[in-house]
Amino acid sequence: MDVLGFYPMWYVPMVGSGIVIALIASFHVMASHTSVGAAVLLAYLATKAYRENQPQIYDYIKKYLLGLLVFSYVSGSITGPGIWFSATVVNPRGISALIHNFVWVWATEWVWFVVEVTFVYILYYTLGKIDRKSWTRLTWIFAVASWATMDVIVGILSFMLSPGHEKWFTTGSILDAFYNKNYFPHLLERTAFMFAIAGTVGLAIAALMKKDLPEKVYKEIVRTLSYWGIGGVVFGLMFFVWYMATLPERSYVVLDKVIPIYLKLPILIIIPIVLAHFVFAAVRPQAVRFWMAYPLYALIFFMGVYPEEKVREGIRKPYVAGEFVWVNQIIARDVPAKGIQSQVPIIDQKGLLTLNPFVPEGLKKINPQNEIMAGKTIAILECSGCHNVTGSVGLRPFGQKFAGMTDRNVVYSFLTSYLRNNHPPYMPKLTGTDEEVRALSAYIAYLISNGGSVSAKIEVPNTSSEAKKEVQP
Ligand code: HEC
Repeated sequence: MDVLGFYPMWYVPMVGSGIVIALIASFHVMASHTSVGAAVLLAYLATKAYRENQPQIYDYIKKYLLGLLVFSYVSGSITGPGIWFSATVVNPRGISALIHNFVWVWATEWVWFVVEVTFVYILYYTLGKIDRKSWTRLTWIFAVASWATMDVIVGILSFMLSPGHEKWFTTGSILDAFYNKNYFPHLLERTAFMFAIAGTVGLAIAALMKKDLPEKVYKEIVRTLSYWGIGGVVFGLMFFVWYMATLPERSYVVLDKVIPIYLKLPILIIIPIVLAHFVFAAVRPQAVRFWMAYPLYALIFFMGVYPEEKVREGIRKPYVAGEFVWVNQIIARDVPAKGIQSQVPIIDQKGLLTLNPFVPEGLKKINPQNEIMAGKTIAILECSGCHNVTGSVGLRPFGQKFAGMTDRNVVYSFLTSYLRNNHPPYMPKLTGTDEEVRALSAYIAYLISNGGSVSAKIEVPNTSSEAKKEVQP
């Protein structure tokens, strides 16, 4: 019997499994961008302290380093593997596609990361114990290693959006995958904005140390951070425009039609606020306050980083990796270079329920007794990456999207005309046999007839030969 290499499905009712990754990832981005930005800023400050012989600047650097050690490196190292762990559970085939391309890139990432983490300790514990010139050199190794960790990941992230050119599908080359069209603007945009993030928390730390530092030194630190912050925002916006110009066609549709205003608007509001704060700090360093800078740093998370990560994941739809794996993990097109073939034809011919080895035996052949459950299974397998398929609230809930459609024939003709023959650019094509589409229609009509909400459980109806089996979602 034919099977396709699917994995067990993790269905998170209501909010969807993607949100689990998005939350962990956003914390990670916040911690990592703070530390990468800070690594460069601190190397610059250390150089300044050395050249201009201003030893008090080292006190500030030491405090910032301790903050990084305690906050960024602990939370960054927990959430980093957390992203890959959750992503592996949510979308094993997407991760598998990435590993098959980028295994050595990840190995490189790991080497840079080891250097980075080692150096934050080395720098903190050798400050004042070795000569300043050598120490300053070490800060630049730290800065380069930190930035390189981001550089490497950005190549993978932008490939997830799109290889950017047809070439990769035939060459399969790792360099074509890594240096995709979106890579440079994405990297430069993050590089610029991270100075704004690190600068904002840097101002909070400076404000805390105002009393301990000579006025002149304090002002210089604040001005330096502010100039870097202003530069970060201004260049970040410029690179953002370039970034937008490198998106694939479908992403504009998603941005325009799908991404809600409550994700776009906060980003547009927080950027000028951060910029204004830097300008204010540059003009009146003495007026910088911890209670302003630190909450602003937190706001950057809620209004900038979290929505930005959600939008970035959104504009990738309907794919999860390289424009050949859909969010529902079905391989959507041929990749000749990798010997990968589209699975759409075989699923249309033989059916997803038969081909997915984790579908319980009692649901593989559709009959009047198991039809509704088979339909629910298809909804979970094909649609739950982007929809709450068992309720009326939360993530694009089916209860709302199909409101009023209590007749299975109405659902069927809607699904075939809208999702099978002419699917919108943000959704995968509805794949499977005609019988499966009918089962999905029956389930959806049943869901709507039940008030738009049913249990997420998959129950395999009692068939003559088999005892009742239950599969927990
Ligand atoms: C890759 C993510 C993704 C998958 C998988 C997906 N959808 Fe959608 N779906 C969307 C998006 C995005 C929208 C746009 C509306 C919104 O954001 O609320 C949408 C909207 C819809 C709508 C409302 C019509 C419209 O275009 O706005 C229906 C009905 C729907 N989906 C059904 C399904 C069904 C049935 C499946 C499974 C066979 C499915 N979707 C799979 C992302 C997806």
